[in-house]
Amino acid sequence: MMNDLQNILYSEEDIRRRVRELGAEISRDYAGREPLFVGVLKGCFMFMADLMREVTIPCGVDFMVVSSYGSSTKTSGAVEIIKDLSQDVTGRDLIIVEDILDTGVTLNYLTGYLKNRHPASVSIVTLLDKPERRRADVQAKYIGYVVPDEFVVGYGLDYAEKYRNLPCIGVLKPEIYS
Ligand code: IMP
Ligand code: MG
Repeated sequence: MMNDLQNILYSEEDIRRRVRELGAEISRDYAGREPLFVGVLKGCFMFMADLMREVTIPCGVDFMVVSSYGSSTKTSGAVEIIKDLSQDVTGRDLIIVEDILDTGVTLNYLTGYLKNRHPASVSIVTLLDKPERRRADVQAKYIGYVVPDEFVVGYGLDYAEKYRNLPCIGVLKPEIYS
């Protein structure tokens, strides 16, 4: 799998350090509240598992599944909810957990969808942010790393369902998907 990477952007060690910082920041900001982390599957699974271990305040965990790319590297623009939350979120402080904020179409839709459920607040933590490609007006409160406009895989991020289990994050060689 490593041979399919053009270069490594973040090593396992880099990620561990950054996730620890994010967990500490969120724990500080939400002290005295009990936020509900809403993971967007499947991309979030590794980041969320590690982030939760760095959050030191009481919190809840839930997941949603939304449709996105299929096996293409470009977003289709349409968002569909495949799996909804398993609880009432009225009055809760929601923190959406994403692997990467790209065009913003997915999170823009999801944020609107969740706000309709009358939570106390909705914010976003994303491991990666690719601001160059933004099409929808959405801003993450917590960002692990800002990445250039390249297709990245690993640490939960896939190409055609592959590479999610890589412990590092790297740029996929363009010849793999062209
Ligand atoms: P958005 O709606 O364009 O912001 O799409 C976000 C989703 O697209 C992410 O949750 C990823 O699943 C996927 N995605 C966007 N860019 C990449 C990438 O570089 N590598 C892997 N998945 C990506
Ligand atoms: Mg995703």
